[in-house]
Amino acid sequence: MQKVEVDLGDRRYPIYIGPDLLGDQNLLSPHLRSRQVCVVTNTTVAPLYLERIKAALSGCQVDVVALPDGEQYKTLETANRIYDALLTAKHHRTTTLIALGGGVVGDMCGFAAATYQRGVNFIQIPTTLLAQVDSSVGGKTGVNHPLGKNMIGAFHQPQAVIADTAVLRTLPDREFAAGIAEVIKYGLIADADFFRWLEENMAALLAKDDAALSLAIERSCAIKADIVAQDEKETGVRAWLNLGHTFGHAIEAAQGYGKWLHGEAVAAGMAMALDLSKRIGWLDAEAPERLADLLGRANLPVYAPAIAVEQFISLMSADKKVLDGKIRLVLLKAIGSAVITDEVPRADLVATLEAMQAGT
Ligand code: NAD
Ligand code: GLY
Repeated sequence: MQKVEVDLGDRRYPIYIGPDLLGDQNLLSPHLRSRQVCVVTNTTVAPLYLERIKAALSGCQVDVVALPDGEQYKTLETANRIYDALLTAKHHRTTTLIALGGGVVGDMCGFAAATYQRGVNFIQIPTTLLAQVDSSVGGKTGVNHPLGKNMIGAFHQPQAVIADTAVLRTLPDREFAAGIAEVIKYGLIADADFFRWLEENMAALLAKDDAALSLAIERSCAIKADIVAQDEKETGVRAWLNLGHTFGHAIEAAQGYGKWLHGEAVAAGMAMALDLSKRIGWLDAEAPERLADLLGRANLPVYAPAIAVEQFISLMSADKKVLDGKIRLVLLKAIGSAVITDEVPRADLVATLEAMQAGT
């Protein structure tokens, strides 16, 4: 088992990574505040893994909320079902919520934990690759609003994260590849050696080899933990984690959410960010070529779908990360070295948008 610490002083917490950790009572019990627990999961994940969690919680009062599956249910109305269950079963301020599922369940359970009785403890047991390397770490929680994704939320750090690599075997291939996009992101923004390791080990990762998965998740979580420890509330370097996301969010919005998975849109978005970095003279041609090759091998898109340039720019301008009306982008000066800028010449941005759409 690997262990990464998120160093937030007296709110520091461990991330445990490895195969078959799910039902390990010794990992769970030290992080429970009392013998009262509520497991929040969904109707897809519950039949697969809930019994193992329950077995590891013997002797506790265990209540379960199985939410409907899907991003469309990531709403205040659905979160209310968690509050209903907690109040009905008389959960106290010392209760512990456990998120068992992907990023949707983790974000909603974390938000319920942040707000129930002004904040209770919670543990993340992420079951998608994206959740294991990204959403379960760093304390961003929340729900969507009809006028914007993740617009209602809170920062609330978990007590622990338990990332069991074995559960990824039941994850659909497309969801798995979407998580790989975020893993590649960590190499691009902060670790050229890790990017090279991914180039050499992509086949083992796609085969869901436990050792390769553990190393990739450990490295990804270590990079995210380091960034979060420096900048918990995203006033600076945490924005590096948005590499490819401003392009990606525009792709998701233009297509209608759900057509492309978030990780797929981020993959094409990262390819666009590197193309733009090359156009403004920060990168030579090699880095974008290496990324395109790696994304292709991971079955991820390299090009955006066809979207009119003006619409693309307007959707990018609507992104939550926009400050004072200027589009802020994360670009690269080298593989492993990210920079945030709002000074990209519009002509270069337009050239990237024109060059990086499928069929161009
Ligand atoms: P998801 O939670 O919708 O899970 C994807 C699908 O896989 C779902 O159908 C789910 O039921 C299923 N699933 C989960 N684990 C499984 C398993 N082991 N076997 C079989 N099926 C399984 O999607 P996701 O990609 O995990 O998360 C996306 C969400 O995460 C978005 O809402 C996004 O906003 C959020 N997010 C949050 C952060 C953050 O920092 N909080 C970061 C990135 C993304
Ligand atoms: N997913 C970006 C962040 O956690 O900041």
